[in-house]
Amino acid sequence: MNNKVGIIGAGHVGSHCAYAMLIQGVCDKIIFYDVNKQRAVSQALDCMDTLSFIPHRAEITAGELKDIAECDIVVISVGGIQSEDRMSELYSSHDIIKEIVPKIMECGFNGIFVVITNPVDIVTYMVQKYSGLPHCRVIGTGTGLDSARFQRILSTEININSQSIQGWVIGEHGNSQVPLFSSASVNGKLLTELIKENPDKFSNINFEKIEEKVVGAGWDIYIGKNSTEFGIGCTCAKLVRAVFHDEKTVLPCSAFLRGEYKNSGIYTGVPAVVGKNGVEYIVKISLNEKEQAKFNMSCKVIKENIKKLNL
Ligand code: 2OP
Repeated sequence: MNNKVGIIGAGHVGSHCAYAMLIQGVCDKIIFYDVNKQRAVSQALDCMDTLSFIPHRAEITAGELKDIAECDIVVISVGGIQSEDRMSELYSSHDIIKEIVPKIMECGFNGIFVVITNPVDIVTYMVQKYSGLPHCRVIGTGTGLDSARFQRILSTEININSQSIQGWVIGEHGNSQVPLFSSASVNGKLLTELIKENPDKFSNINFEKIEEKVVGAGWDIYIGKNSTEFGIGCTCAKLVRAVFHDEKTVLPCSAFLRGEYKNSGIYTGVPAVVGKNGVEYIVKISLNEKEQAKFNMSCKVIKENIKKLNL
C-alpha cells in the first residue's frame, strides 16, 4: 500500500493529525503507536468511523514499532503541553526521543520524520541526531502553525480572507518567534503599502499588538481546553501531502540551516520547498534589520537550549 503514515503518540495532537490527513485524503494507511496501547487502538477505531465519509479508502490500525518502521512518513507527536512555555518540555521530550527514535531505526525505518513534539525546533534536531537520517528527511512543523495564526490574525485586522494573505513567521516555534511584517502581502501587494495607501481603512493597525497576539495565540487556545490540536493537525497534513505528492510547495517548517538567514547548525522555522525527499531547499525572504536581529535572537535561544542537552 502506498503513502503510509505512522503516528507516534496517539493523544490530542496525533489523533487530530490523523483526522486532518484522512478527511483531506492525504494518505492510504495510518498506524498509531502509543505507550498506552488501548489509546492507540481506540484512536484507530474512532478514525475508522470516518471511512464512510472520507475522499478515498484508507486503513487505520494500531501497531508496534516494527510496523511504524515500514511507513513512508513517521509523525512524532508524543508529549503534551504542561505550561505556557514550550521549552519546559525540553528534558522530558529528550528522554522520550532518545529512547524511541533509535528503536524505530533499529526496525529499519528509512523514510521521513515529521516532528511536532515541543520544543519542536530542538526536538527535530534531536530526532536527526538519534536517527542519523539526512537533515532534509527530518522536518519539524516549526512555524507552520504560527504562520497560519499570523494569517488568521491579519485577516481579522484587515478584513481580507486569510487565504489571500501571505505572511510568514520564522524562527523558534516559541516565544522568540518572528512574524515578518515587511514581506507580508495580499496576493502580491505588500501589506505595508496596502496600509499606507488606505489610511482611513487601516488607521487602527498596530504591528506590535498583532505580534503579541500571534506569539500568544497558542495560549489563548490552551487556556480553555488544555491542548491545541486542529491547527497543528492541518499543519501536519499539509507537510505530509507536500511530500507524498512531491508538491514542491513552499511552506514554513523547521528546517536545518546552513548559513541561510545568517545562521547555521540548527533547525528552525523558515520557508522551504518541500517535495518527495523532504526539504529540498530553504527560500530566503529579505528581512529588514529589526527582523534579522530578532531572528538571530531566536536562533540563539535554540542554540543555548541545545547546548544544555550535551548531544
Ligand atoms: C501550539 O502552538 C502548543 O505548540 C503548541 O499550539
